[in-house]
Amino acid sequence: MTQALQTANHQYHERLKQVLPGGVHYNFNMPWEEVPLHFVDGRGSRLTDMDGNEYLDLYARFGAMILGHAHEEYLDALQDAVRRVLCVSHTDADADALELMAAHIPSAEMIRFGLSGTEILQTALRLARAYTGRNRFLRFENHYHGNADNIMGGRVTDPQNPVPVDFKGDYKGTAGRATNVMADQSYLLPWNDTELLESFFGEHGDTLACVLTEPVCVNGGSIEPAPGFLERLRALCTEHGVVLIFDEMITGVRTGLGGAQKALGVIPDLTTLGKAISGGGVPVSALAGRRELMALLESKKVIHAGTYNGYPLGAAAVAATFTILARDDEAVLHAMHRRAGQLRSTLVEEAARVGLPLVVQGPPGVASYHCSEEPLEHPGQYDFDLMSKDIIVATAFQRHGVLVSSISRLYPNAQLSDDDLEVFETRARRALGEAKQSIDEIFGS
Ligand SMILES: Cc1ncc(COP(=O)(O)O)c(C=O)c1O
Repeated sequence: MTQALQTANHQYHERLKQVLPGGVHYNFNMPWEEVPLHFVDGRGSRLTDMDGNEYLDLYARFGAMILGHAHEEYLDALQDAVRRVLCVSHTDADADALELMAAHIPSAEMIRFGLSGTEILQTALRLARAYTGRNRFLRFENHYHGNADNIMGGRVTDPQNPVPVDFKGDYKGTAGRATNVMADQSYLLPWNDTELLESFFGEHGDTLACVLTEPVCVNGGSIEPAPGFLERLRALCTEHGVVLIFDEMITGVRTGLGGAQKALGVIPDLTTLGKAISGGGVPVSALAGRRELMALLESKKVIHAGTYNGYPLGAAAVAATFTILARDDEAVLHAMHRRAGQLRSTLVEEAARVGLPLVVQGPPGVASYHCSEEPLEHPGQYDFDLMSKDIIVATAFQRHGVLVSSISRLYPNAQLSDDDLEVFETRARRALGEAKQSIDEIFGS
């Protein structure tokens, strides 16, 4: 038996692999992580694994865990919901959840719940197609909108006709996907290029059902929109009768309860939400939008279905999350952003101390670090080499007791404390020294 197999974590992984493909439920799994950590306890910002090792959790389950682990008020609300009625179609929990969301999110005149981001994005496309009577949609390179065949990966080979096609080496490509659905349904453009957008709309604007974008491109490295880009996109969509969809799966709640749309002052027609809206304990996604569009669901012109849609525990979780975070003018979120800012400064300072070029960019609730001299300006800069360096840092972090997302995100939570910040500083110092050495060995100093 190898040394590795002697840990409880490794032994458990071996057992799991007999019945669970790869021992994981998720194939985009952290690329560096041969054996995933299995956790047995979570308190605040800390997690404990099966071997008793403690970690600072800045990964927060892809950003969903915004309240931190074992948040008392949140757990009380979930317990109350569980004890009252667990599985029926309609309860008294919906109105609170939906009214709170509508009160904060500018585009949310009406809202429907689903379970995952992937499925709610498909409903958004369906609604936009029904509303416009058009089929094609535009999305942008390096954005992510779920793992359905028609919306993930692909590359444009002819800029004159920017339809995405499969290509070998696309890590989102993989086998088994339906052929041509991307090419038949969509266009794919680089993001943040207003001139290109203008000329694209000139040619194709009247054929589009909708444009889909993350308002801050978190999946492409937490890149903020270029000045005027989203405003111009909004105007072009209105001009050409195209539905504008903001995918706020990550930016929703984390950038403020009104999402990035409120912070940036650009209001889409439809918004997709998920992850942090339900506080991280249970899955809920949401489609929010203008009454006129959402009315297509009311008239049943467009189908939106799902066994568990609007389940009581999920609605209670959304209501509790918005209640906790809205209190005192979003005081908890402001405090979380402040601490995230401190964390960011520490990371940059500690990287500089060991001579590792590193920047942190993006709004404080959804920031990413990059082993780069300068912040990235467009998602195309988040290339293989940069991603590899960022992963080396993430690996070193994990070895020293800090969990961050494989794609270099730093997700704070509402319980992040001064003590956590101190622990981060100590661990980051050790981890970054080690990361710098590995990066120099692989890429040259
Ligand atoms: C912006 C964005 N949209 C959609 C999704 C898909 O959500 P889900 O994983 O719940 O299907 C994700 C997931 O990471 C995301 O980041």
